[in-house]
Amino acid sequence: MLAVDVKNIKKTFTSKQDTVEAVKDVSFQVEQGEIFGLLGPNGAGKSTTILMLTTLLSITDGSASILGIDVETQDKEVREKIGVALQDTGIDKILTGRELFFTTCRLWGYSKVDSEKRTKELLELVGLTEAGDRRVKTYSGGMKRRLDLGLSLVHSPEILFLDEPTTGLDPGSRRVLWEEIKRLRDSGVTIILTTQYLEEADELADRIAIIDEGLVVAEGTSDELKASIGGDVITLSFYSDEDLEKAKNILTDAVQSKDELRITVADGASKIPEYINKLISEGIEVSTVSASKPTLDDVFLEVTGNRLEGTEKAAEEKPTTTRKRRGR
Ligand SMILES: Nc1ncnc2c1ncn2[C@@H]1O[C@H](COP(=O)(O)OP(=O)(O)O)[C@@H](O)[C@H]1O
Ligand SMILES: [Mg+2]
Repeated sequence: MLAVDVKNIKKTFTSKQDTVEAVKDVSFQVEQGEIFGLLGPNGAGKSTTILMLTTLLSITDGSASILGIDVETQDKEVREKIGVALQDTGIDKILTGRELFFTTCRLWGYSKVDSEKRTKELLELVGLTEAGDRRVKTYSGGMKRRLDLGLSLVHSPEILFLDEPTTGLDPGSRRVLWEEIKRLRDSGVTIILTTQYLEEADELADRIAIIDEGLVVAEGTSDELKASIGGDVITLSFYSDEDLEKAKNILTDAVQSKDELRITVADGASKIPEYINKLISEGIEVSTVSASKPTLDDVFLEVTGNRLEGTEKAAEEKPTTTRKRRGR
């Protein structure tokens, strides 16, 4: 049975002033035991999708089921199967981590003894045993995210939804959280997470759906997505801007990205000599050349025509010319 089955869901927010189609048409399937990543920029509809799947928001159109249970008509049953860590949680920061776990366990109906036991287990699981007796308001960003993760696990859910679990964290804390998320997956929990970080989707997700403007625009494993753009990316750099300009006129398929030229070809390594010879014959010296597999950013660019903003890579690598869409 599928862990999550989403069929053409849609969410329209209507107010007196206007109508927002936050989610236009989203479908995907998640197998049990996998990490599924919803990758997309700010405003793509990721949080709205998660809120609908976790019964916190009604579905305007389409249907979704969790372990075969319908999200709209059997919301109570669904809530027993799932855990959720939302993007903006209003957790009580006056309490200590231990008190917060204990209270949450009691809310889920555990006895006092069991709540104490579960609190201890979960503090250990998310690495907060030492900090357990400190007030949550003294926790770092990474510790708060680990706390959120731990709290979503109190009732041992089979399916876990994480909305941007590492946004705003430093690379070190992000990595710690990644390891925890992988460990949970390896222990049998199915995980659906949203992210705007390419690297996170690449590192964590067994399968990825790229979402943009309320639509799923591509889906597959990271490798499948990269293979879908049909080749390798050759990157060339030059000793002077003048050479770069000249090379750009010669290699008409090339697209400039900062001070490099990039070309997508079927077989990068074997094509390199041809490009180099062409440039040499025109008196242009190449400073560095490499062929590499496309990144998820290349995939995002291919399917949406934009760079994925809000990522480290997009921030440092803004293309100075827009890339031509290959006719297919
Ligand atoms: N309650 C709401 N009312 C009106 N518009 C909303 C509401 N929630 C989200 N939106 C809009 O829906 C779109 C998708 O938002 P969201 O799902 O939060 O995207 P993401 O999580 O991918 O950043 C955005 O344009 C956002 O402004
Ligand atoms: Mg969001």
